[in-house]
Amino acid sequence: MSAWTHRHVLDLAAFSLDDYATVLELAQRFRAMPTSGARKLPALQGRLVTTLFFEPSTRTRSSFELAARRLSADVVSFTPGSSSLSKGESLLDTVRTYVAMGAELLVVRHRATAVPQQLAEALDAAGERVAVLNGGDGLHSHPSQGLLDLFTLARHFEPEAPGPQALQGRRIVIVGDVLHSRVARSNLWALTACGAEVVLCGPPTLVPDAFADFVAAPPPGQRHDPVPRRGRVQVQRDLDAALQGADAVMTLRLQQERMQQNLLSSLEGYHQRYGLSHTRLQRGGRPLPVLHPGPVNRGVEMTGGLLDDPAVALVDEQVRNGIPVRMALLYLLAAGGTQSILNPSSSRP
Ligand code: NCD
Repeated sequence: MSAWTHRHVLDLAAFSLDDYATVLELAQRFRAMPTSGARKLPALQGRLVTTLFFEPSTRTRSSFELAARRLSADVVSFTPGSSSLSKGESLLDTVRTYVAMGAELLVVRHRATAVPQQLAEALDAAGERVAVLNGGDGLHSHPSQGLLDLFTLARHFEPEAPGPQALQGRRIVIVGDVLHSRVARSNLWALTACGAEVVLCGPPTLVPDAFADFVAAPPPGQRHDPVPRRGRVQVQRDLDAALQGADAVMTLRLQQERMQQNLLSSLEGYHQRYGLSHTRLQRGGRPLPVLHPGPVNRGVEMTGGLLDDPAVALVDEQVRNGIPVRMALLYLLAAGGTQSILNPSSSRP
């Protein structure tokens, strides 16, 4: 395992195969450890983690806060409605207030693309030793979700050794509102890095053809791709054809709050063409695990019956895996390396 070099976690486009391996290995260890009461890990004792969510969240925020507490960190959460933002304070000044209180790790979610990155740049320029974790920015990136989805799939395929190799040569279908999904974008970087083939499926309004080239070049501002050879990405309009030979399927929420114009004629029609159900999955002939980052529109992306069937739907497993994956990220950024936890002779943690 090689050294961890990231000061912030902003976009999985910057992750190498070693980075994925490090996060997955740590997450697997954290998942196996007792996490309650006095048996909490002391790794981040006395360190302050602040979650700043300028956009609604159920899973990501709670999961980061639990992860921080399980590493014994202090946690403060910022709520925009009751803050001085309503008195005109700038976002950067708000963030600097928490830094002045001693926050060393900031988890930031914002509806505008690149806000976490801009904050990280501003704090770096000011010489602050603060790590920024992107909790989801606009349509752009949701790295912790991409990593927990990767971990969930890797554990499904190789429960004992859920490393990047578990994804090699797998065919993963992502169906639905790819256009508005930062989760799909982060999954594209993560899955292709690990050698999976990704099939994107949905109507042209939600899955434009250009997505086939999404990982062909690093994003603007990043000079090179740290992954020498990525799995292929293709676009397929027909869901039944996409599911043929697939190893897993991830369906995405229709993000109606982000849709500028009417991109769908009807939700019923969408469900018929792109919705998942037991019946549809059985047509493929073999059991296929189903993922969804949540929140789910029951009866639209998938039937309620499928969502409630733990033999098929890994949705609760994704939520459970979010905690050890976020513990791994907080640990790596705060502890500045993997040594103490991965070296069995070490006394910490
Ligand atoms: C997603 C998000 O907010 O990007 N949810 C999540 O973090 N689990 C996806 C969504 O809102 O549909």
